[in-house]
Amino acid sequence: MIPKDIIEEIRYRCDIEDVIGSYVTLKRAGSNRNGLCPFHGEKTPSFTVFPATKSFYCFGCGAGGDVITFIQKMENLDYVGSLEFLAARAGITIPNDSSYMEKDKVSRKRVYEMNMEAAKFFRNCLFDPVLGQEGMRYLTEKRQFSPVTIKRFGFGYAPNNFGLLTQHMRKLGYTEEELITAFLCGRSQKTGKLFDLFRERVVIPVIDAAGNVVAFSARALDAATPNKYMNTSDTPAFKKSRILFGMNYAKNHCAEQMILCEGAMDAIALQAAGFENAVATLGTAITSEHARLLARYTKRVLINYDSDAAGQKATHKAMALLDQVGLEVRVLKLTGAKDADEYLKQYGADAFRSIIEQGSTGFDFKMDSVLAHNDVTQVEGKIRAARELAAIIAAVGSGVERELYIDAAAKRLGISAEGLANDVKRNRASAAREQKKKESRDAMMSARSFGDRINPDAAKDPAAAAAEEIVLGLLLLYPEHRKAVISANTPVEASDFFTDFHRRAFTAIIEMEQSEGGFVFSALGEQFSPDEIGRLVRIQQDRQALTHNGSDVLSAAADTLKQRREKREALQNGDFQSELARRRAEFKRK
Ligand code: CTP
Ligand code: MN
Repeated sequence: MIPKDIIEEIRYRCDIEDVIGSYVTLKRAGSNRNGLCPFHGEKTPSFTVFPATKSFYCFGCGAGGDVITFIQKMENLDYVGSLEFLAARAGITIPNDSSYMEKDKVSRKRVYEMNMEAAKFFRNCLFDPVLGQEGMRYLTEKRQFSPVTIKRFGFGYAPNNFGLLTQHMRKLGYTEEELITAFLCGRSQKTGKLFDLFRERVVIPVIDAAGNVVAFSARALDAATPNKYMNTSDTPAFKKSRILFGMNYAKNHCAEQMILCEGAMDAIALQAAGFENAVATLGTAITSEHARLLARYTKRVLINYDSDAAGQKATHKAMALLDQVGLEVRVLKLTGAKDADEYLKQYGADAFRSIIEQGSTGFDFKMDSVLAHNDVTQVEGKIRAARELAAIIAAVGSGVERELYIDAAAKRLGISAEGLANDVKRNRASAAREQKKKESRDAMMSARSFGDRINPDAAKDPAAAAAEEIVLGLLLLYPEHRKAVISANTPVEASDFFTDFHRRAFTAIIEMEQSEGGFVFSALGEQFSPDEIGRLVRIQQDRQALTHNGSDVLSAAADTLKQRREKREALQNGDFQSELARRRAEFKRK
């Protein structure tokens, strides 16, 4: 366990407004701050930061918590990982006592260390005249990478041998479990022995923005090999849905724009040709996490996917995700080559530069594809295309941009701008109505605790669940109420609680209050998931909003709990009695 005073210090030094403000644009709203929720797509801000309780809550999706929960969700870390992240940010050292980590778990740091050793090993193999000959020839001849590029990206080679890396790493003292967890070794079903996972491939280390080797991407020398690329699967140090290859260099050249490509090899080829703002997703399609990551570094993204049908489809998806996080998007159209790497080899860097200059806006790209699948020489095709374009333009946030797009589209279709503008207006109005409907539906659902994943029991006795929330809200907010419960001045006990989640929360709060260091909200993160913490913040916030929070409220809620419990028990008894009667009657009949 990380000591509570350290947790408190981290929470104190990492101001919630500052930390969240570096991910989300926050605006003042009374004593609180508002912004667009980073955890779900929305156009009107329902994400709120409460400086008074050092917490946040999204009224749209129910995400909530403190600064630690926020980083857990945002950076995809576990509780301890989030504390480490924030401690590093604030310059606080967490005592180097690993007892707070479970013994059998392999830590992120340990995996970084193993990866670094493995990267060195692969590099030595590549530069070995015998072992690395084939790999080196592939990189210099087939790929035409210069020695500078090969060094800069830390290329290596995994020889065609099942045990070299395993032996090397075992000698360095890494356990079999650790090597398997880090996705460096596999275990043979037959012999039970460890073997090298990467073989006869050039190996590219994947380095995160902080400079850690988080994973490897390894390409077979022969493209016909069934798995042309083999990438590290998710490990404690790596989640492919949130890593962009090349970020470690690109982050220094991204002020204006970044180039997003499909493969690591393309990012390398681009960076080597002087386009140092190139990054790539790694063996996966772009995710919303990637989009948020990009939005933290840059304003504009140039999508540079393969020119085949799959690449075009992926472009549409990427545009939507990037647009959602507020990035400006352009699409680079390569003609005469499949991808950036091939294009550069064929036509050179200057040609690519002019492609960047001609990069079409996201709208042009969408318009092209609408015009491509509708025959606009016919009236019907024209009407369909106008309808589709009106819908696309209606989704654009800026009025100036809408106007420009309306003009451009009207010209391309040979129709009047006024007519198209009217359609756009109608689309926007109906979208706004839909949004309103959806919001009130969501609110109703949550009021009825319908489909409540966090506390599924609530729907079975809503009155009890509501009283439980009152008790928990008061206990979360006021030490005097916690003390009153412990001293039995207000007699509430765990068994009074009907819903499992609320009972767990009650027990955790009371136990922590009695433990050394007392109650610290942030320390709940150790026992509760970020979603559960979000719920507790909502419960706390609902209470905070009310002015009358005295001990009479607590006693009244405690009484309600007891009444509900008696009623349930009576009901159960009743059920039991009637069941007994039914069986007796049945018995007699026989
Ligand atoms: N990819 C993968 N596993 C595969 C095939 C592809 O992980 N079996 C990923 C790689 O990150 C690859 C990207 O998808 O870079 C795009 O695939 P593709 O266009 O086939 O590869 P290229 O990047 O063109 O690879 P190369 O130039 O080395 O042939
Ligand atoms: Mn390629």
